[in-house]
Formats: sequence, structure tokens, C-alpha cells
Amino acid sequence: MRVVFLAAVAALTVASARADELGLRTGRSLDGAWHVIVDPYDSGFYDYRSQPYDAHQPPSGGYALDRKAKDKSELLEYDFDKSPVLQVPGDWNSQDARLLYYEGAVWYRTLFDVTPAAAGRRQFLRFGAANYEAHVYLNGRKLGTHVGGFTPFAFEVTGALRPSGNSLVVRVDNRRHREGVPTLNTDWWNYGGLTRSVTLIEVPATFVREAVAQLSADGSAIAVRVRLDGPNAAAPVTVSIPELHVLKALTAGAEGAATASLPVPASLVRWSPRQPRLYEVVVAAGEDRVSDQVGFRTIATRGGEVLLNGRPVFLRGVSIHEENPLRGGRAHSLEDARLLLGWARDLGCNFVRLAHYPHNENMVRLADQMGIMVWEEVPVYWTIQWENADTLANARQQLREVIARDLDRASVIVWSVANETPVGEARLRFLKTLIDDARAQDGTRLVSAAMEVRGDPADPDAKIVDDPLNAFTDLASFNEYVGWYDGLPDKIGRLKWTIRSDKPVVVTEFGADAAQGLHGDERTRFSEEYQEAVYRETLAMLPRIPHLAGLTPWILADFRSPRRPLPGIQDGWNRKGLVSQGGVKKKAFAVLQAFYAEKAAGEAAPPSPGR
Ligand code: GCU
Repeated sequence: MRVVFLAAVAALTVASARADELGLRTGRSLDGAWHVIVDPYDSGFYDYRSQPYDAHQPPSGGYALDRKAKDKSELLEYDFDKSPVLQVPGDWNSQDARLLYYEGAVWYRTLFDVTPAAAGRRQFLRFGAANYEAHVYLNGRKLGTHVGGFTPFAFEVTGALRPSGNSLVVRVDNRRHREGVPTLNTDWWNYGGLTRSVTLIEVPATFVREAVAQLSADGSAIAVRVRLDGPNAAAPVTVSIPELHVLKALTAGAEGAATASLPVPASLVRWSPRQPRLYEVVVAAGEDRVSDQVGFRTIATRGGEVLLNGRPVFLRGVSIHEENPLRGGRAHSLEDARLLLGWARDLGCNFVRLAHYPHNENMVRLADQMGIMVWEEVPVYWTIQWENADTLANARQQLREVIARDLDRASVIVWSVANETPVGEARLRFLKTLIDDARAQDGTRLVSAAMEVRGDPADPDAKIVDDPLNAFTDLASFNEYVGWYDGLPDKIGRLKWTIRSDKPVVVTEFGADAAQGLHGDERTRFSEEYQEAVYRETLAMLPRIPHLAGLTPWILADFRSPRRPLPGIQDGWNRKGLVSQGGVKKKAFAVLQAFYAEKAAGEAAPPSPGR
């Protein structure tokens, strides 16, 4: 029997150009209107007279240097100052109808002044995300690149800034690639752009690069790990949780690292959906001080159960894409998060699956505050190039970056390494590497993937869950679409399940399309009644699934997809939402809502505070 105690984490991790630990600091926002040049032929990226098309070398005189003509005789065929603007953060597709389907490069440019920093202080530029590939230039100098559309990245710019007129140019290219993560084919909109905030962050010469205060696996201690970065890294550090009267003085070693194991105060209230208690955790070293609001909880699996703080919990979930359907664009703001998680709360959810890629930090921070547990996922989706080393490196980097970003978030209980990937040896090796990475980097949460079920040629009503990947995950999670892609709703009640796993089962997808307001009966495709029947029949069938510990039906809201053209019904949208593109709840919403209300009513009351 595998008992995996997963402890919560107060991970105050900061700094390093590799990951997003800088996200803890507010910094100075560079958000707003950036001038842009749409560049489908990459004429700003290579000199077509001397380089082959895919040279991908910075041009001798291209956009990236943001130059002005020296005099009236010089030929320059671009001018950022006179070019259109796009709002940052935000995808370009939903900001300009001409860019709705655009896949290519867009050059962004913003100008900003800075107050000269005090001697020794360091500056970083942090990007919340850019989909899909970003090349970043500051004052004509290339800072670097980032590949992967949904995780943060940062570059140190100490000494590269000037008091006025700093020119930050970013080339964002959302073209899909066979070797990409995701690969060429997805069932979501390929929103491109600087989709999350851009921030200028300043820190002392020696600063808190990483700090984790982690509840131990058995909940008996708070393990603390700190790492300083800078010329005086071997220095005193204090970690405090004021509301718990915890204050620990440490001394970092030569390489800036320090660890400790602290007793758990009897007054500590564990984070849970009923009581999402957060504590301020403060780490101070020299001139630097960082803090975060952190929840402490344990999560475990025991046989077919998921245990939150030692007690069985049923994951009343729903899947969500990072999209505000009312705006038809990438979600990024706190308001977007409030809309989506507000609908999930209306549904009666204590759990959400953020599909199929890391969502913005507003979603996970708000989930912390609302007491909604979270399944996070990297876009290892469908037919990835399993034998391509660069593809694996890209997937590993994206997983590493989202774990580094969200170690602090008590709401996050599952790292998912894939969605619906075809069984095979190369795929198993690829995903096992990711699972090993997740456990090595964090090891304090459940690890899983949304797998597929298979049929039995001898029996059309039989479904078998026996993905070899299950041997390496903590949950046996799978998607099934009986009643939509496989038969009609009346087939659901005849299903027989064989699940070759003793682990908790989460049904990570089921559902059906419905055009809100289209009515008919259980055989009328795209009618609300059809979708309602799929939900009703599936929920009634669930008792036949052994070890069922949770659901995240597909999907909370209608979302854009280039694969869904059916005129008058889809029009470029996947209509499996329980909430329509216009924000109207469909009939199936009430079916799931009633099911979750009954589940919640049956849950035991939590123990008295302090346990
Ligand atoms: C798949 C996939 C989703 C997709 C859904 C659908 O299971 O995981 O990304 O949108 O089915 O076909 O609607």
C-alpha cells in the first residue's frame, strides 16, 4: 500500500534568471500599451539577402535594434513610434480582429525611464509568460530567449539600464512546431503574445534567492530551506511566521544555503477548502526581506482514497481553460480569475483542473484564498515527439518552471505531466522522466496525468483502465467520452469498468457539446438536453467505478478552438462548456451542481481548529 504524505510548502523562492522565484516581489510594472510590428515573414529577424530564411540570427540592421534613420537618405522600413499598439498583458488574437487566426512573429517595444539604482543593487526583467517563443532585447543588446508559452522567465539587467529611454524589444512567435510542447495539434486557441505581465524588479546585491518552509511529510515539523545569492551569501537569515510566533535565525553557508527543522506550533490551522487559512511567512537577510501568504496542509493517498490533512476528501472538480469566454481571449487578470473560479464555486467545486498548461498566477493565488484545490498540468498533449531530446528538455523546463513558481501554493495538490498521450515505450520513458523530475523538485504533491481508457473488442460496453503509466503516478486519472465520441447517452448506463490499479481514480474528462439555447432531446446533438443527459447518465454510472476519488468534467466554459467550425453551432468554439460563451449556465450545470451539493452534504465536518 502506498501512503504518500504530501506536505504543504511555504516556498519563498526568489531570483535566478531561470525561474520565476522573482514573482514574489511586486517590482515596477511595465504593463500597458506597447508598440507592435506584425512580422509574418520574419523580416526583422534575418537579412534575406545574406541569410537563409530560418537563420534565426539577430539582423545586422533589423527591428530588434529599434533604430531611427540617421538622416533623410537612410532607408529604414519600420518605425515602432508610428506603429500600432497592443495591451500587455494580453494575447494579440483577441485585441485585433486581423490577428484572430495569426500565427507568426510580432515585435513588441516599450520605452521606460528608471531612477538610477543605489550602488550594488541588482535589477531583473521578469515576464509572466509569452506564447510561444520570446527573444528579448534591451537597448539593442540581446538578453536571451525563452521557449514555452505558459511559464515565467527572467533576465538580470543590472548595469544595462540607463536613466531614460530604455528600449525593451520582445519578438514573440506563436508558430506551432512538430517538436514543440504542445506539438502541432491542440484543441484550444493558439493565443500569441506577451500574455502575462512584464515587471522590472530590483533587489539588494545579496538577496533571498530561494526560501522554502515546508510541512514535513508526516506533518510533524516545518522544514526550512533558504538560499542567498550575491557577494555576501554566507550571511545570517531569519525565517518568521509572526501569527504562529515562529522566528528562526539561521546562518547561510559559503554557497548561501541554510536549512532547519522547526516544531509545528499547536495553534497552526491546516489549509483546507472549508478553512483556507493562510499565514504570512517572512524571510529576511541583510537588506532583503520577502514575504508570502502561505497555507500549510498535508495531502496523501491511501489505497483508493485521497486524504487532505489525514481525512478522505472527494475532489468535486471541473476542468478549466485559461480563457475569459465573455472576452474570447486569454485570461490573465485577477478579474478573469474571479469570474472563472466564481463559476466553479457556484458549481460546488472544491477542486479545479487547470487544463492543459500552467495558468496565470492569479488563478492559483485566488484558489489559495478561496480554498479550491488545484490540478496543474504542462502541455504534453496528444502526439508529442517522444524521441526528440529537445522536446523532452523543453517539457522538463516547463515543468520545472511551474513547480518553482507554485511551490508556495497550498491549493496546488497535483502536478500533471500529460494529457491523452498514446501508450508506447518512448512515451512512457518521456513521461516517467517528467514524473521523476516532479518528485525530485517537489515531492510534496500528488503526481499524475490524464490518461486514456481502452475498449474491449469482445464487449462494446466494457472499458479498461490499464495504462502502464499508472505504475508511476499517485492517481489513476483518465478521460472518457462515452455518450459523445463513443455512442449516445443511453450507452453510459451499460458500461462495465475494469480498472487495473488500487490507486485513487479521478475522471479528468467527460462531457458533451451543447449550444446554449438549442433545445431538443437526448438524441439531438448539440442540444442542452443531450449534454444534460450525458451528465445525468455519467453521474448515475459513477458508483461502478472503483476507487473513485474525484471528477473534473470537461469543461467549465465554452472555449475557442480552430478545430470546431460547425456554422451556427460551434463557429470556432468548443461548446462542451457548462457555461456558454456569453456566461449563461446550461441545463447540465444544474445536474452537476446538484450532484456536488449532495456530495458536500455527505462530507464529515472538519476537526476542531488547530489540528
Ligand atoms: C479531449 C482533450 C480536450 C478536448 C476534448 C474535446 O479529451 O483532452 O483538450 O477539448 O477532448 O474533444 O472536447
